[in-house]
Amino acid sequence: MRLALLADLHIGMHRAHLVQPLLDAIATARPDNLVIAGDLVQRARRGLFAEAQALLDRTGVPWLCVPGNHDIPLLDLPGRLLSPFRAYQRAVQGPREPLLELPGLKIIGVNSTFPYRWRNGRITQRQIDRVRHLSRSGPVMVVQHHPISLLPGETKELMLNAEAARAAYDAAGVSLVLTGHLHQFNIAGSVSGMTQIHAGSVLCDRPEDPPNEFALLDIEGDVFTLTRMIAASDGAGFIAQPPIQLPKKR
Ligand SMILES: [Fe+2]
Ligand SMILES: [Fe+2]
Repeated sequence: MRLALLADLHIGMHRAHLVQPLLDAIATARPDNLVIAGDLVQRARRGLFAEAQALLDRTGVPWLCVPGNHDIPLLDLPGRLLSPFRAYQRAVQGPREPLLELPGLKIIGVNSTFPYRWRNGRITQRQIDRVRHLSRSGPVMVVQHHPISLLPGETKELMLNAEAARAAYDAAGVSLVLTGHLHQFNIAGSVSGMTQIHAGSVLCDRPEDPPNEFALLDIEGDVFTLTRMIAASDGAGFIAQPPIQLPKKR
């Protein structure tokens, strides 16, 4: 089974010239599902969500998504506090915390956005308990927008309760945690075998970001293999990097 892992499309502040190369790369890779770790759009407007939805639907691959901080209103305070997901749910009709059981891997979506703390988000004890409960059977990948740990040298603030989530996921036997938000790819392993995949941004046009990228995750038996697909500076599309073997499923 193969998944394509995406994050931080930021439609509205994205590199439009990378859309077709992204669609081509996904068509060539033929993943079974797309998993998207939030920030579909730059601003939580209906038109931008419609554009994001159209792009994802054009892949012809079933997709699963969780919201990021850019997917809820920033400046429209009443909208942010009273109906933060109104525009998001026009593009994403399913639950904000989806659950997908695939052969060999259960994917648990967690909504880490928090309207009172727009940028940094939070996770609640109820959400942590849900992951713990769902992790009792079979290998699990958690997908959420906000990371549960920072990259080396990163100065951004973590979401509220990130440390509690990290410890609980690790203790519950979660295999993989996919997050976005930092726009910087990294892999971090725990001593007990949980792997955090910090996704890069697939399309965002922020000048200070590293090159855009997404990743393919192949699951064969109990082996996970990750292949980064990085956008070439010469416009040659998303180029596959040497595969990375992740710790085995647990
Ligand atoms: Fe982002
Ligand atoms: Fe974000």
